[in-house]
Amino acid sequence: MSKITVSTLNKMKAENNKITALTAYDASFAKLFHDNGVEVILVGDSLGMVLQGGDDTLGVTNQDIAYHTRCVRAGSRELFVIADLPFMTYSSVSDTCKNAAELMRAGANMIKLEGGEWLYESIKTLTQQGIPVCGHLGLTPQSVHVFGGFKIQGREEDKAQKMIDDAKALEAAGAQLLVLECIPSALAKRITDALSIPTIGIGAGSLTDGQILVMHDLVGISAGYIPKFSKTFCSKQAICLQPFKNIVQTLKAVHFLALNTSLNNAVNH
Ligand code: KIV
Repeated sequence: MSKITVSTLNKMKAENNKITALTAYDASFAKLFHDNGVEVILVGDSLGMVLQGGDDTLGVTNQDIAYHTRCVRAGSRELFVIADLPFMTYSSVSDTCKNAAELMRAGANMIKLEGGEWLYESIKTLTQQGIPVCGHLGLTPQSVHVFGGFKIQGREEDKAQKMIDDAKALEAAGAQLLVLECIPSALAKRITDALSIPTIGIGAGSLTDGQILVMHDLVGISAGYIPKFSKTFCSKQAICLQPFKNIVQTLKAVHFLALNTSLNNAVNH
């Protein structure tokens, strides 16, 4: 697959060709996904839950994301990689620039941050400095404690209208892509229609310009919470349990055989 750029994603939106995005955190999966037609890889702070085993994403550091971005980039030079700015790493414009630069140097093509209109100055500055930005609205997991849980957002008309205004502000500031998480499908469509940049949905229906899923959720192996909206494409039984049971049995049998052979040899000498 050839190199994916922001222009590729814009062209896909224009041609109503859906964008496929998955999270990945290492070189092997990143290469596997890219080789099989995934256009966008997100090094998401979801790694705080699916790799680190946390209850939320708040414990993730910029160094964690930089490390995993380097791993993912090592999987392919052609991948389009988005790296998440973690919780409280973009609370001022200067922090945002410093932390985003670290992720770009680690191999990201774009950085993602969560929030609406209040990010206007940061996004404008990043874009002016040559750092492409992906916004994230709806159920923004870094605000889980403000929401009181992982809950659908934008159901009421005033909240829906605020989200549309936020989306327009992000685009006006220079954002080139927008993730919409856990919102009603009709609202995702309103936002998608209101913008010229592509939207990528997760738990937001099928009317966005693309879809994103957390890789551990889609194969059903997340250690903790799996969102209700996340489609699981294969069973834990098929992908892990039976193969690993077989592996353990084989290893134990081989070990037993080796032990027996060396005991016999010892007795016979
Ligand atoms: O961190 C992440 O994986 C994300 C996706 C859920 C979009 O932000």
